[in-house]
Amino acid sequence: MVTIEECQDILDKKLASLNLPDKPENLYDPVRYMIELGGKRIRPSLVLMGCNVFADRIEDAINPAVAIEMFHNFTLMHDDIMDRSDLRRNKPTVHKKWNENIGILSGDAMMIKAYEFLTQCPAERMTDVVRIFNTTALEVCEGQQYDMDFEAIPAIEIREYLRMIELKTAVLLAASLKIGALIAGAPGEDADHLYAFGRNFGIGFQLQDDLLDVYGAPEQFGKQTGNDIVANKKTFLLLTALKLARGETFQELKQWMDRKDFDRGEKIRAITAIFNKLKIREITEGEITSYYDHARRSLIEVRCDAARKQPLLHFLKTMQDREK
Ligand code: IPE
Ligand code: IPE
Ligand code: MG
Ligand code: MG
Ligand code: MG
Repeated sequence: MVTIEECQDILDKKLASLNLPDKPENLYDPVRYMIELGGKRIRPSLVLMGCNVFADRIEDAINPAVAIEMFHNFTLMHDDIMDRSDLRRNKPTVHKKWNENIGILSGDAMMIKAYEFLTQCPAERMTDVVRIFNTTALEVCEGQQYDMDFEAIPAIEIREYLRMIELKTAVLLAASLKIGALIAGAPGEDADHLYAFGRNFGIGFQLQDDLLDVYGAPEQFGKQTGNDIVANKKTFLLLTALKLARGETFQELKQWMDRKDFDRGEKIRAITAIFNKLKIREITEGEITSYYDHARRSLIEVRCDAARKQPLLHFLKTMQDREK
């Protein structure tokens, strides 16, 4: 069995030697830039760990793992254009360092590279792997579209938000594990339980990302905080505040959301103060814990030696405690 550190080491080496073409620079430099900036490498680690639950050999899962990380970085590149984010992993985003057209096209190239790596897997597994990848990639697009649509809709239900984050974030973590499991030849039922683990992990993870967007320390988080508040993103925090706020507090929250001209810092401070008053942080933390606990319960269903689940549980805990 391999440890999470070994998985990450394998991935770092592989991702550092992708041999992308030099030219055109404006197409491939941003790809290298994104990949070399690192990040937590959660999804490719989950591919390798998902494989390792059922097989000792993880070699066959390495290219698909790279594919998933490539796809993830592509979604981030386009997400930063859509969210007008200036900073990622403590560095300027691609559309800021280059420009939006470059961000769009380099992203497209990453999507194609993702397929190139994905299909470098054992031939007998390829159909299943590509099928789950395609379903998942489309779901991510659906989630991203809901995320943007919701910005302009005042009344979103928390269950609609949860479905949105399941699509934009959780299914990719889930599919990473399932792809790893399928490559190892796991029975479909167990691959599905692992998928459920990843889905609950992913929902907790995105709730936590929303929380860090308000309460994280920017130098650690690596992204500018307050962006979700500025954009009226319908996060769990905002939706819960809208549900709990009464009287003047509710009016003040609504006014800030409706205002077209405002000072960025002032809006962030005012809405954060409302969140504080309503104990939104504590409520969100409770929700996050409940999804991570749910994930742990899903893992119980997977039929294998308990020891083989340990790296996943350890990884889940590390992510639960993260500040970035
Ligand atoms: C960022 O994902 C996008 C979300 C789904 C919240 P990560 O937090 O995994 O980003 P990196 O790859 O570690 O930078
Ligand atoms: C991004 O969600 C999800 C995808 C990229 C599919 P966010 O917009 O919350 O991610 P960050 O905060 O920019 O990383
Ligand atoms: Mg976004
Ligand atoms: Mg974003
Ligand atoms: Mg975010």
